Amino acid sequence: MPMTKENVVLIGFMGSGKTVIGRQTARLLGYEFVDADEEIQRVTGLSLHALYKKHGEIRFRSEEELMIKKLAVRRSLVIACGGSLMLEKEPIALLKEFGWFVLLHAEADVILERVSRKNSRSKRPLLSDKPNLEQVRELLIKREQQYRGLADYTLNNSEIGVEEAAAKIAGQYRQECQINV
Ligand code: S3P
Repeated sequence: MPMTKENVVLIGFMGSGKTVIGRQTARLLGYEFVDADEEIQRVTGLSLHALYKKHGEIRFRSEEELMIKKLAVRRSLVIACGGSLMLEKEPIALLKEFGWFVLLHAEADVILERVSRKNSRSKRPLLSDKPNLEQVRELLIKREQQYRGLADYTLNNSEIGVEEAAAKIAGQYRQECQINV
C-alpha cells in the first residue's frame, strides 16, 4: 500500500457506527474528524430530514458530492460517509485517491436496534418511522456488495465496543499504510 493513504474513510450502512467509531479513531490518530452528514447539515442549515422533505434526495446527493470534493483534497482526516455515498462513482474516485477505506459491518438485527433509537430516526429519512428487520435486510443486501468492493479493511462491530473497534482500525491503518501517527 503506497504512503499516499493519508485519510481514513469510514463506509457502511446506516447504524454501522461510522460516526462514533470515526470520532474515536480520529482521536487515536490525532486526525481531524469530519462527519459528512453533519457537514451537509451545517452548510445547508437544514436537518437531513428537512433537506429531503424540502428539496428531495437529488439535492441531498448534490450537496454530498460538493462537500466530498472539498474534503477529498485535504489530508489527515477521518471521514464518516453517509450510507448512500458509496453508490456515487465520482465522489468515491476522489476519496479513493488519498483515502484508506474501512467498511464497518454490523448484523441486520444490531443495525435495526441502533436505527430504531428515537434520536437516530430523524437523520435517516430513507427508513420508515418504524423500520423493521425486512426493510433493513433488503437495503443491506442491495448495498453490501458495493460496500465490500470498496473496502481496504472490513470490521464487524456487532459485538465489540467503540473503543475496541477504533483501536483495531488505528492499528491496522498504521501497519497497512505504514503511517507513523
Ligand atoms: C443514508 C444514510 C444516512 C444519511 C442519509 C442517507 C443512506 O447516513 O446520509 O439519511 O442512504 O444510507 P448514516 O449512514 O450515517 O446513517
